[in-house]
Amino acid sequence: MEFLQPATANPTDRQQVLGHAHPRIEGALKTTGTAHYAYERQDVTGLQLVGYPLGAGIAKGRILSMDTAAAEAAPGVHAVITTLQMDPLPKHKNNIADLFGGSRIHHYHQAIAVVVAESFEQARAAAQMIEVEYRASHLTDFDLAAAHDKNPDKAGKTLSRVGDFDKAFAEAEVTLDAHYRTPAQSHCMMEPHASIAEWRDGKLTVWTSTQMVAWTQKALARTFQLAAEDVRVDSAYIGGGFGGKLWLRADAVLAALGARQTGRPVRVALPRPLMMNNTTHRAETYQRIRIGAGRDGRIAAIAHDGLSSNIPGGHGENPVDQTRHFYAGANRLMTLRMVNLDLPEPNSMRAPGEGAGMMALEVAMDEMAEKLGMDPVEFRAINDTQVDPENPERAFSDRHFVRCLREGASAFAWADRNIVPGARREGMWLIGQGMSGGYRKAAVMKSGARVTLRADARVLVEADMTDIGTGSYTIMAQTAAEMLGLPLDAIEVRLGGSDMPVSSGSGGQWGAASATAGVYAACLCLREEIARRMGNSDPAALTLSDGQVTSGDKTVPLAQIASAGEITSEESMGFGALQKEYLIATFAAHFAEVAVHVATGEIRVRRTLSVCDAGRIMNPMTARSQVIGGMVMGIGAALSEQIEVDTGRGFFANHDLAGYEVPVHADIPDQQVIFLDTEDPAASPLKAKGVGELGISGAAAAIANAAYNATGIRLRSYPLTLDKML
Ligand code: MOS
Repeated sequence: MEFLQPATANPTDRQQVLGHAHPRIEGALKTTGTAHYAYERQDVTGLQLVGYPLGAGIAKGRILSMDTAAAEAAPGVHAVITTLQMDPLPKHKNNIADLFGGSRIHHYHQAIAVVVAESFEQARAAAQMIEVEYRASHLTDFDLAAAHDKNPDKAGKTLSRVGDFDKAFAEAEVTLDAHYRTPAQSHCMMEPHASIAEWRDGKLTVWTSTQMVAWTQKALARTFQLAAEDVRVDSAYIGGGFGGKLWLRADAVLAALGARQTGRPVRVALPRPLMMNNTTHRAETYQRIRIGAGRDGRIAAIAHDGLSSNIPGGHGENPVDQTRHFYAGANRLMTLRMVNLDLPEPNSMRAPGEGAGMMALEVAMDEMAEKLGMDPVEFRAINDTQVDPENPERAFSDRHFVRCLREGASAFAWADRNIVPGARREGMWLIGQGMSGGYRKAAVMKSGARVTLRADARVLVEADMTDIGTGSYTIMAQTAAEMLGLPLDAIEVRLGGSDMPVSSGSGGQWGAASATAGVYAACLCLREEIARRMGNSDPAALTLSDGQVTSGDKTVPLAQIASAGEITSEESMGFGALQKEYLIATFAAHFAEVAVHVATGEIRVRRTLSVCDAGRIMNPMTARSQVIGGMVMGIGAALSEQIEVDTGRGFFANHDLAGYEVPVHADIPDQQVIFLDTEDPAASPLKAKGVGELGISGAAAAIANAAYNATGIRLRSYPLTLDKML
């Protein structure tokens, strides 16, 4: 069914199970080690072999020869499969760079061989014995490439133009023209990319760690030239993704190749040191932001020019998009330019676009507020808009950004802040407070589910939805419980199988709203069948509550309805109409307090607060976990995360968790999250939006603005490492 009208009264309004905090229903399985992740799957028949991947040692060029004799003769080795043994494998449209096959190298650590052996150690040892000869040349220096770019459109592609920016900017009473830089970043999810593959009668089964089961199934079918129904994908548990597991990657391809050649199940995990260069990353950006305003603080002109590293045909970072819609202003100009490098493929990382774009925009807003002599909270509030500034005919479906600002300022005691930068000192520490706005689009994707009411009045919910650690299992169970008037523990949820109804998968913070809409749709169908069995053709006249179903003056236990045979309903919810009619997004105000050491320049975060407007919150516990996780990633983006390009050798030099520094517990202080009690009937039947990427969007800028307030030093290049503070 299609979601065509803003949601009206429906069973999920009761909010008896939805809207309440519940720990994750699969949590105990994970904490006791009984939830088996892809690499650990024990239910694969046959003795497993282990594949170890070999990555290219150059950034770009050609393999001249590979000598595998020593590896083949090494103990325990069953197969050595090299990229020279086959043409480039066909690619699904989601994959930009080649995953395997052929002699051409497009990026460092591109997979060029897999050694399959009895044990991990034997496979790894043999892989190191392969001798490779290359011819190489590369360009991985972003500054050099940008300067010498042959692209005639040096000003960048115009994404949108409204009014006359140049004129309005020239005439504005107060102006800002500032440049910002954000580095390349890596997802660094806890569980690496990992797969077990098995072939039986020409059919392929892959237990893998993916955010998108149906995409992975299609991509494997394309790669191995199979019909989609001959590929089974199972991704029941996933240890994080952050956008790095949206696409088929080399682990699954190498496992499938190894299993095909040896006739045994083969498992392959990408070793951590290979992940940075072998998989995708968030691209580096330069951004120029110009804002012109009147003395009253109203923005008259705003321009955002983005420049991102990329590969041909790739998905570099677009840091400009949110600036098109977030703040008012009659004259606007947004441009984006991509520069191709011989680096690994850039692609989605948590809040692609906003993730990097708001790191710049929200510092620019802070700088502009200071120039105007205005409180940054007031400056943002005065430039709020309830309609798309690019198209005033198109309204935001539901936007309470000003409430986020006001409630945040109050909860954070913003009024007590010291306004003069560098003026508050405690011992060796300078103390500062900063804030930022948060904006992230609320995308949705068509999502299906199958719901079965069993004779024991228990309900099974199935979908190929993934739970990447976010709480999908739990909120889908809550949705079914609410729709059918059952307690949460009467619902069983099975996810991640390609033989289940196709769902939205997890990405772009679309999972929560989309996947629960699929469950809602399937439950509506189930309610119709229940009504029919009650001899009532109108499911709306049905009440399901406390395990009982009431129709007219008749009340019977739900179990009795199913005793005549279990009922299965499958349905999906499609979106589109309302997404065109309205601008649907999520909003936040982030606040941060930091301490900066006067001698070393070290920045310590002392407390953070995010106030979020994301429609109905389905589960305040799992939603809060998503937001604080985003805020932690924002702290990492502000203070430590960057992949360093070795332009000499053409690779990301810091390719493990020792060299790529994500925040650890000791870096994270008291975090507070407040959800506004809003509902957005245009967003989904549950009047809910996602929060998985809202927490990171803008969070880093709040830290940067607090560091400025502490020290009076304005940094425009992330991360804010101590060398830049001195
Ligand atoms: Mo998200 S970065 O689209 O998984």
